[in-house]
Amino acid sequence: MSKLLPYVCPKWAQNLNHIPKYRIQLANPDTPIHRWSLPGTPSKFEVSIKRDDMTGSTLSGNKDQSKIGSEGNLLLDRLCGSNMYIVPRKSPYETELKPRMETLAKKLREETGKEAYLVPVGGSNSVGLFGYITVFEELISQGLFDQFDDIVFACGSGGTAAGLAISNHLTGSRIRCHAIIVCDDKAYFTDHINQTLCSVGLDTVHCQDILDIIEGHKGRGYGLSTSEELEFIMNVSQQSGIMLDPVYSGKAARGLMEELRSNPDRFQGNRILFLHTGGVFGMYDGSLDSVVKAETKDLVHMWPSIDSSPE
Ligand SMILES: Cc1ncc(COP(=O)(O)O)c(C=O)c1O
Repeated sequence: MSKLLPYVCPKWAQNLNHIPKYRIQLANPDTPIHRWSLPGTPSKFEVSIKRDDMTGSTLSGNKDQSKIGSEGNLLLDRLCGSNMYIVPRKSPYETELKPRMETLAKKLREETGKEAYLVPVGGSNSVGLFGYITVFEELISQGLFDQFDDIVFACGSGGTAAGLAISNHLTGSRIRCHAIIVCDDKAYFTDHINQTLCSVGLDTVHCQDILDIIEGHKGRGYGLSTSEELEFIMNVSQQSGIMLDPVYSGKAARGLMEELRSNPDRFQGNRILFLHTGGVFGMYDGSLDSVVKAETKDLVHMWPSIDSSPE
């Protein structure tokens, strides 16, 4: 039986170009929104969290891995029996990755007769865009317009940011969208999102007018963490029970907290919605080990027998 279902586009997005015809149901939708006590938030702000870490999908973002073991997402790839083709780190997409993927797709077509779908970096093309266009409809049904002033999220390849900002614009919403970048720079994302706007037919709309791109929180760079970032992640999980990954949501949540403190006027109001984009498997890449071991070493107690007290 085909896994393809018809894709029903929200009404307000129906004039866009490149609307997908089909979808595959991978995620569990209608993830909850609840209040979140994000440590370090000034008291005048109320932060809530949209739990897209609960879509229940193992497809919650691929991570750049420096060592080829079975950590994080690589473990999932291996468990699924996927073939992996490893390319040099930082290969540019247009000139290196895309031609290689096209060669591989051709080989697969010739050998198996099957057509491959080439996923660009981060899935951020006009197809991927419709992911967060679809979620925006869900956010509206959950009271986005009445209950929030600002929405804040991580930005790694720009698809989430483009989907949310375009939806926000098309629905005439007065919410302000803030993308906290975890790699590259503001100029790169502005250009990428402007290209996306053109590709869907919104040539007269500019990224600068529909999205606040926030720099300054990528720390040591994409996929690299500072001890302060890792300690923040630990603090958040201990204080609020929310698990953040070091590559995306950890940097974005820390960036949000720092911006609320040092730059409160960048927010339009005090009711902030943080979008948790998942990525839990990124927690298992080993980067949290040293901080967790150092911070919790006094919390691990040997308790050798039932009659003794813990040491
Ligand atoms: C967990 C997680 N959050 C956020 C992002 C960033 O989203 P985008 O690439 O659409 O900017 C990614 C991208 O892979 C991700 O894996």
